[in-house]
Amino acid sequence: MLTHIKKIIKNAEKGQYAVGAFNVNNLEILQAVLAAAEKMKSPVIIQTTEGAIKYAGLEEIVALVKAAAEDLKVPVALHLDHGHDYELIKECIKLGYSSVMIDGSVYPYKKNVQLVKKVVKYARARKVWVQAELGRLEGSEDWVKVGKGQGFFTDPEEAKQFVKETKVDTFAVAIGNYHGVQKIIGKKKLILDLKRLEKIDKLVSIPLVLHGASGFSDNQIKGAIKRGIRIVNIDSELRISFAKAERKFLMENKNIFDPRKILAPAIVQMQKTVERKIQVLGSRNRG
Ligand code: G3H
Ligand code: 13P
Ligand code: ZN
Repeated sequence: MLTHIKKIIKNAEKGQYAVGAFNVNNLEILQAVLAAAEKMKSPVIIQTTEGAIKYAGLEEIVALVKAAAEDLKVPVALHLDHGHDYELIKECIKLGYSSVMIDGSVYPYKKNVQLVKKVVKYARARKVWVQAELGRLEGSEDWVKVGKGQGFFTDPEEAKQFVKETKVDTFAVAIGNYHGVQKIIGKKKLILDLKRLEKIDKLVSIPLVLHGASGFSDNQIKGAIKRGIRIVNIDSELRISFAKAERKFLMENKNIFDPRKILAPAIVQMQKTVERKIQVLGSRNRG
């Protein structure tokens, strides 16, 4: 059932586990994520970026998520990922998102704070949660590309001040995590700065969010959950599962033309990926 993210994350805090926030752009990805959540009896967060909304249509994707979630026993929250456009954030809130991210992480501290405060004022009056980020992740999402060496980590003291000033509900950290499939297919060594996370967790009492979490080892993710991470964002692992399954299927089945048959293996592979992630996050049987 469609549920406010607050309820899902308050339970995760009590149980000391994390909930997956999976990026959804179309019907097939949504079906895979929700099938996995239902099978694993896990709460789940469905998140759409501005790019996903441009691709699928805001009203269309909200209608899909609401209709699909209504049929399920497990709690499903809808979240706007990497929001930059204030007008779009307002639209999402009007249509039923229970959480929005305002990503001012590319701006200097002061401008980031100003922007976040404006969104918090609007969202709080409507009982919607706000996520913000301090620090800058390398890699690319559709709005911004941060080159190698241009990212910087979250400073724990600054994080404390930022959360106090903005009064956000959840806080995204930059601790060596970064976006994109390249980090996985390039077989890079991926290491999270868990000591830094521990310091942030001591100074910041709200739930912490790990973006760019695809490709990190299970141990790294579990270590992050021990140190306060309650939301883990996954997109790239879904993209890789989708693309690998499709490439294989199309190469092996040159005479199949029905899109439903062509897309079926991608759904199967993405569902497996989500089930595995749910196991690692510890949210199985928490739905
Ligand atoms: O940061 C989130 C996503 O991995 C980027 O997705 O291409 O929909 O912005 P996007
Ligand atoms: P990945 O690129 O690691 O999948 O991260 C997704 C993400 O952070 C979405 O906000
Ligand atoms: Zn992200």
